[in-house]
Amino acid sequence: MTTDRLPIVVLVSGSGSNLRAIAERARTGALPVDIRCVLSDRAAAPGLAWAAAAGIPTEAIAVADHTDRAAFDRALAERIDAHAPALVVLAGFMRILGREFVDRYAGRMLNVHPSLLPRHRGLHTHRRVLEAGDAEHGASVHFVTPELDGGPVVVQARVPVLPGDDEAKLAARVLAQEHCIYPECIGWYATGRLRLVGERPVLDGRVLETPLLREASHAAA
Ligand code: GAR
Repeated sequence: MTTDRLPIVVLVSGSGSNLRAIAERARTGALPVDIRCVLSDRAAAPGLAWAAAAGIPTEAIAVADHTDRAAFDRALAERIDAHAPALVVLAGFMRILGREFVDRYAGRMLNVHPSLLPRHRGLHTHRRVLEAGDAEHGASVHFVTPELDGGPVVVQARVPVLPGDDEAKLAARVLAQEHCIYPECIGWYATGRLRLVGERPVLDGRVLETPLLREASHAAA
């Protein structure tokens, strides 16, 4: 472990492709973070197995083992804090977190969401984009606040909705963008370029009144 790397904890519930994108950049040195632990609410999450195989410490915390959501949140916070992260990274963590938990990590917890927020908060975003007939879709990285998918957005990537798209095609196109903008945004935070000041992200001393926008051509689609 080197001291110039920001200690982070990553929370996953599913396949963990964003985790892998972050870990790969950390491995090459492109992203100055030290993944102290990967935590999951699902012991069977493929992302957790991948992390363990990669030599990253992992822990699973089951909601069913706790009396209620608040007790789960407290246990989760305890496990996170044991690793003393400077940043908590939600990477496909599919639990709604309570206000107390979110406030504890105010300004130091990021999430990636598969839509152009504030459009399509919540689940099934790709299906809803298709049903709505949207011409474009995308992904957002935002600071987490108690309002679900409602925190200040730092950066978004836009992708077109193409004729013949189904949920899977759209999800893959969006996910490829997540893998670019999420590590990039975490890198800004890790290098002290990005902070949350009040309710606004500040990047390089500039208040972001609107999210930064990355076109799909910015990265491999
Ligand atoms: C990603 O598309 C992420 O944006 C989404 O879950 C997927 C996780 O994929 N998160 C949410 O919907 C949170 N509201 P991954 O496990 O392969 O990184």
